[in-house]
Parts: sequence; structure tokens; C-alpha cells
Amino acid sequence: MWKQIAGIALASSALFSNDVVYFVKEKPVYLDATSGKVVGKLLPTNAVEILAQEGDRIKFKITGYQNKATPNVIYFTDKARIFSLAFAKNITPVTQIVESKDQWNLVTTEAYTTKGDFEKELQPMMERAAKLYSDNCSMCHTLNAVDHFTANQWPSTFRSMLDRTPIQKDDVWLVTQYLQKNASDMKK
Ligand code: HEC
Repeated sequence: MWKQIAGIALASSALFSNDVVYFVKEKPVYLDATSGKVVGKLLPTNAVEILAQEGDRIKFKITGYQNKATPNVIYFTDKARIFSLAFAKNITPVTQIVESKDQWNLVTTEAYTTKGDFEKELQPMMERAAKLYSDNCSMCHTLNAVDHFTANQWPSTFRSMLDRTPIQKDDVWLVTQYLQKNASDMKK
């Protein structure tokens, strides 16, 4: 009986192949399970499918948009510059094309990151990001509505004010992605 209960408790926090997870902060990206060379960054709040665990790395798959002019970046959308996975400029990831449209390909690609820093639900981390934004960006002036700016305007707008807030380095990309994904031009 005890063993069974412990088993269930463990299972609920364990990671399985095909699980979809969302990272809470910027993560280093590698091309394999062992190399020490960071080749890119995976941005928080983007859906990532777990393929395998190898040592202290996770092998994952991500789906996103690749612009033919900037093949090193996988974007969240084909409508704005919202990064999901950004490889270094000299790296062109191996991708599988799901759909092709003008300058854009909807693709999947696989890579590795370190274990940890993920959640299985997106909503709670987006709510934390919303609170970080509203708590910190309303201290000196009225809070701007998130949909006051476009997805492409938010990163520089946010960064220009960041030094005036106590927002932690690990949360910068989390809040940036929250702002971009709720921007005026991202409304359904
Ligand atoms: C310590 C006070 C303070 C905090 C905290 C603060 N701001 Fe500001 N903000 C100002 C002041 C003062 C201005 C007027 C222009 C200036 O000084 O740059 C301003 C102007 C702005 C503007 C108008 C743009 C412009 O350049 O005229 C925007 C948008 C803005 N802030 C967004 C934010 C966001 C987003 C945050 C949170 C990351 C934030 N602010 C946090 C003080 C603050």
C-alpha cells in the first residue's frame, strides 16, 4: 500500500516522453546530450515536447515558424518577432517542414537543454508574469495596458524601463514573452 502511494506521488512530478512542458526561464540549448557548447537559447512560455532524458539533459522537439531570411530562429508566430528558440547566427538547425507559406515555413526541430525549470501548465506562469509586470511597471506612472503596444514594440519598450525595476534577470524573458503574446496585434 505504502509503495503504491509513493509510486503515484512520484509519477505525478516525473517527466515522460511526449509530455508537453513550458520552461519558466531562458534555457541553454545544445545540439547533443554531452557537448558543453551552448548553441542557442530556448525562451520561456513556449510549448516543448519532451522526447527523451539523457544524463542531465532533456531532448526536446519544438514547433514554430522559420523565416527564410533568418533560418537560425524559430518564431512563435509568422506575424511578429516573438522568439521561441534562437540558435546562434552561424547555426542552421535541421528542421522538418510541416507547412510552407511565402517567406515562412512552419517547422519542427529537435535539440537538447538542461533538466529542470519547467512546468506542465502555461497559465500559472503567465499569471506570475502578469503580476510581475503590473506590480513593477505601475510604481511611477499609470500601467500601460498590455495591448497598448505591438509584439515588436514590447521588447525595446520593456527593456528601456527595466533598470528602474527590481525585476530579476531570470524573469526578464518570462515577462517579455507574456507582453509580446498579449500585445495589440496578437489578439485573436
Ligand atoms: C522608477 C520609476 C519608473 C518605473 C519603475 C517604470 N517607469 Fe516607465 N517611465 C518612468 C518615467 C519617469 C517616464 C517618463 C520618460 C522617461 O523618463 O524616460 C516613463 C515612461 C514610460 C513610458 C513612455 C515611453 C517613453 O519613452 O516616453 C512607457 C511605455 C513606460 N514608462 C513603461 C514602463 C514599463 C513597461 C515599466 C516596467 C518595466 C516601467 N515603465 C517602469 C518611470 C518609471
